[in-house]
Amino acid sequence: MANEKRPENMERITTPALAEAFIEAEIAKVRAQVGNKKVLLALSGGVDSSVVAALLIKAIGKQLICVHVNHGLMRKNESENVIEVFKNGLNANLIYVDATDRFLNLLAGVSDPESKRKIIGKEFIEVFADEARKLEGVEFLAQGTIYPDILESIKAAEGKKAVKSHHNVGGLPEDLKFSLVEPIKLLFKDEVRVVGEALGLPHAMVYRQPFPGPGLGVRCLGAITRDRLAALREADAILRDEFDKCGLAEKVWQYFVVIPDIKSVGVKDDSRYEGWPAILRAVNTKDAMTATIEPIPYDVLARITARITGEVEGINRVLYDITPKPTGTIEWE
Ligand code: XMP
Repeated sequence: MANEKRPENMERITTPALAEAFIEAEIAKVRAQVGNKKVLLALSGGVDSSVVAALLIKAIGKQLICVHVNHGLMRKNESENVIEVFKNGLNANLIYVDATDRFLNLLAGVSDPESKRKIIGKEFIEVFADEARKLEGVEFLAQGTIYPDILESIKAAEGKKAVKSHHNVGGLPEDLKFSLVEPIKLLFKDEVRVVGEALGLPHAMVYRQPFPGPGLGVRCLGAITRDRLAALREADAILRDEFDKCGLAEKVWQYFVVIPDIKSVGVKDDSRYEGWPAILRAVNTKDAMTATIEPIPYDVLARITARITGEVEGINRVLYDITPKPTGTIEWE
């Protein structure tokens, strides 16, 4: 990642017209940089990589090769949605890799949060590198680096310690040497969204809540099992659906479900029913360094609880985490 400074006089991209001008300028720059060579991109479906993909498809079409790695820790329908938008919608050159077994086998029995993060981060790079080695004639790697990433890495270089080891693609093995294409590296997140909309990406994709690189892996607490992961995915989909329906999705910065590795005794159909608790979390923040709690109206909580306990196999209780950051971090791991 280039540690380039944003020029002080650079205008903030706040309107579709400014976004159009930015897009045109970047298209010209990318074409000049890559010529007729191929460019590789890890497309997670997050806002940043999606905007880079849409921009590069416009600039160089099929010269862009997108690789979407499904690590098995995605939310419900997330990978399908990436394929729908990019392969079917934008006719992208997209390679889909279902690496679920690779990740879940490596993670089996691993309960330490940092070890889980490291395994997921390392394996992600390996899966991506395996795909890259199969391709010929690729000289460039596109990345969804944005300006806060650059500011973050400047801070890290100054020796400020992070609470958690966040993972994003970077540090490819030695044998894979690419020149970087980073068209949105001087933009802030709000600008990336304006550019994304101008590129015609779906609103839900451009305004989606942040989702950590290790995905549901850091929300399925302790050692991940397939059954608890499946329950988490379903419960999370219900929470998101209910937030969409009542308008909270537009108001809350991040909201999700966490499932700890404990069971409690419950009752269902007059029988003992041991199940996991689903923990709901909904926070607001500006920069994720601190966070406040969004009060979810009681009727919404009751509806979500009824749906999760009624529809999701293995969950018998729903809890609501009202801890701000600090002392709780946003994610539980
Ligand atoms: P914490 O839990 O540290 O989270 O309060 C702050 C924000 O960062 C997100 N997060 C991550 N994002 N890779 C990411 O790209 C990661 O490994 C990662 N871990 C946490 C978290 O979802 C929250 O928005």
